[in-house]
Amino acid sequence: MKLTFRRPDGSHGVHDTDPGTSVMEAAVAHGEDGIVAECGGSLMCATCHVYVDPAFSDLLAPPAEDEAEMLTCTAAERRPTSRLSCQLVLTDDLDGLVVEIPEEQV
Ligand code: FES
Repeated sequence: MKLTFRRPDGSHGVHDTDPGTSVMEAAVAHGEDGIVAECGGSLMCATCHVYVDPAFSDLLAPPAEDEAEMLTCTAAERRPTSRLSCQLVLTDDLDGLVVEIPEEQV
């Protein structure tokens, strides 16, 4: 399945990923530098912040309480589409997902 990162410089990274992988894990595996993921996915850092393309918003469950709380700590502006990518686990229906990497993570 395809996962696309829109980078702050306007370029795109399009990667093949497997269901069951988190968007953060895919970013790290494919060298997307804009995803820092300092805490390794344990909801302690907010440096895996992404903006989800609105076309996919309806396919995602809303953030759980602890993710929502950590979303108040993002370095870049928080938007309605903000998510922590370590909490976004890819499923088949998310094939083609597009997320934008914010300008800053720390
Ligand atoms: S990697 Fe730290 S909160 Fe997602």
